[in-house]
Parts: sequence; C-alpha cells; structure tokens
Amino acid sequence: MILGIETSCDETAVAVYDPARGLLGHLIHSQVATHAPYGGVVPELASRDHIRRLLPMVEEVLGRAGVTGPGLDGIAYTAGPGLIGALLVGATMATGLALGWRRPAIAINHMEAHLLAPLLEAERPEFPFLALLVSGGHSMLVEVAGLGRYRILGQTLDDAAGEAFDKTAKILGLPYPGGPALARLAAEGGRDRFAFPRPMLNRSGFDFSFSGLKTAVALKAKEIGRSDGLLTDADRRDLAKSFEEAVVDTLAGKCLRALEATGLTRLVVAGGVGANARLRERLRDELTARGSSVYYPRNEFCTDNAAMVALTGAMRLRGSKTGPLTVQARARWDLAEMQPP
Ligand code: KG4
Ligand code: ZN
Repeated sequence: MILGIETSCDETAVAVYDPARGLLGHLIHSQVATHAPYGGVVPELASRDHIRRLLPMVEEVLGRAGVTGPGLDGIAYTAGPGLIGALLVGATMATGLALGWRRPAIAINHMEAHLLAPLLEAERPEFPFLALLVSGGHSMLVEVAGLGRYRILGQTLDDAAGEAFDKTAKILGLPYPGGPALARLAAEGGRDRFAFPRPMLNRSGFDFSFSGLKTAVALKAKEIGRSDGLLTDADRRDLAKSFEEAVVDTLAGKCLRALEATGLTRLVVAGGVGANARLRERLRDELTARGSSVYYPRNEFCTDNAAMVALTGAMRLRGSKTGPLTVQARARWDLAEMQPP
C-alpha cells in the first residue's frame, strides 16, 4: 500500500494505492484560482500553497482510506521534472513522513507516472505499447517495452502541445488556463473555415513543432479582426476549431506512423492534452479502423494527480523494505534516463 504525493507544478495531490485493491482514496487541489490573476503559474506562490495544503490532505486521504501511516509500505513522491521549489515541498514532506514511519521513500519521475496512469483503469494496456505523452511541458512519442524501458521516438522541437493550446487560448482572449477553455470553444466552431498548417506532418520522423501553428492563428486573428482589433464570437469559435483540428491531425498522424514503424498495436495517451475530447474521438476512430486499441486514463488522471504517482511507486517498490533517506528533487529529469527497477 503506497502513499503518493504530487507537487511538481500547480496541483497539490495525495493518493493511496494498493496493487491488490486498487485506488483507496485520492485528493487533488488545483491552484488555478491562485495563479489566474497572473495569467500563469507563479512558482513562489505555488510552493507556499503546497506547504499550506499538503499535510492536511495527507491526513484526510489516509483517514478516508482507513489507513495509518505506519500501515503503509512506502511513500512515493514526484521528484521531477517540475518547478524546483514546488518539488522540494513534496520531497521533504514525503522523506520526513518516511523517516517518521520507518518506511521507504520512493522518488518518482512525473513523466513516467503520466505514462503509466492508464494502468489505474479497469481496461488497462499490457506492455509493450506506444505512448503519446502530451502535457503542458512535454510532447513525446515513446516506445514502452516495460517498466523503465523507454525509447523516445520523437518529441517537440519547440512548444509542447498543451503550451500551444494555452498560448493560442491567450491569443483568443480566453482566461488562464486556456487549454480546456479553447476546447470548449472549438466544440461549437466550424472545422473548415481556416486552413492552418499541420506542422511536421509532411516530414519523416516523429518530432513535433507547434509554435508556428500558434503564430499562424495570431496572424489570421489579426487579419480578420475588426478595426478595433476585436474578434467576433463566431471568429473565435472557428479559429479555435481550426487550431484544434490542426493539432489533432498532427498528433494522430504521427501516432499512426509510429504504430506502423514499430509494429505495436496498443496506444496509450496520457498527460493533460489527453483529456481533449476531439483527440480521443479521432484516435479511437483511427485505431479501431486498423484493429489497434487506444487506452486513456479517466480525465482527472490525464492532468496532474497523485494516483499515478502512488501506482508508479507500487510498481517500482517491488517488496523492497528500504529506500534512501535523501531528498531528491530535479527540475529536469529526462524520461530516457529511466531504468527498470
Ligand atoms: O499534464 P498536465 O496537467 O500538466 C503538465 O504536467 O504539464 O497538463 C496540463 C496541460 C495544459 O497545457 C492544459 O491546457 C492542457 O494540458 N489541457 C488541455 C485540455 N485539458 C488540459 N488541452 C486541450 N484540451 C483539453 N481538454
Ligand atoms: Zn503533468
């Protein structure tokens, strides 16, 4: 039974996971309201809020799950990549609890946790699979042979997919955080009004590039804007829709190409952009048509959460009763560095 702690960015999250019984409880506190007035995450405010929230949330989750601290087998925490101050809050808290309860502390890579999140669901993929990891900070295609056995096939050369959603949302005048708001707007838009580029789709390989697409939307918005620079509601809906279609086309195209090249038949989609309904619909259609399957975590486990951290901790602990009592926090931690346990 593993306690999971996530504080890498602007969500404080705690969960308890038992491999035999599944998820016993979890909580996520989003700091969106704290950062909204600044239009983005303010690292110092994030750290302070994690400090305020984390310990009461640990007590609440353990209480609800009917578990005591010493009854746990280990404490897993996100050690990177992320905001270093925010990471240190979770890392020091987890290591302190581990010391007090005499249990191992397990440092978890946040991207590995995202990638394994679909294993929390009843319909879970078997290894090996192809993973599309699309979050606010990362976009990559990974060949996953097993736990800690990752080959990065491609990644973004500039903006991550979620970052492109957020920046384009800002261009359309949507409030932070823009990705989900842009998706809601796009749902009412016309698909074919604007022809935006499908970045990198006509090039071989599996890398992405999204910053040109964002610029294309900005230029088009300027061109069609009224003399006072404002867009009509219809313009904003159609721009959002055409942008979303271009991103979805690009991601789906690269996924299909990677499945072809690797011979894999299972695709896992994880990270915040994995919550995008249009992307899910499109991938499900395309993969079903070619006899492959696609797996997603439920929406709340696409974005940052501690259930995926606790699950990864359980998979990595493997019966070990000890762990190093060093506080590990790394702003950068490449998935390609991971090893099997
Ligand atoms: O995985 P995540 O919670 O945090 C990171 O580790 O980055 O991903 C957050 C990102 C944000 O850029 C957000 O705008 C995007 O995921 N996102 C979405 C949707 N929901 C969240 N993008 C498009 N459509 C959505 N429905
Ligand atoms: Zn994340």
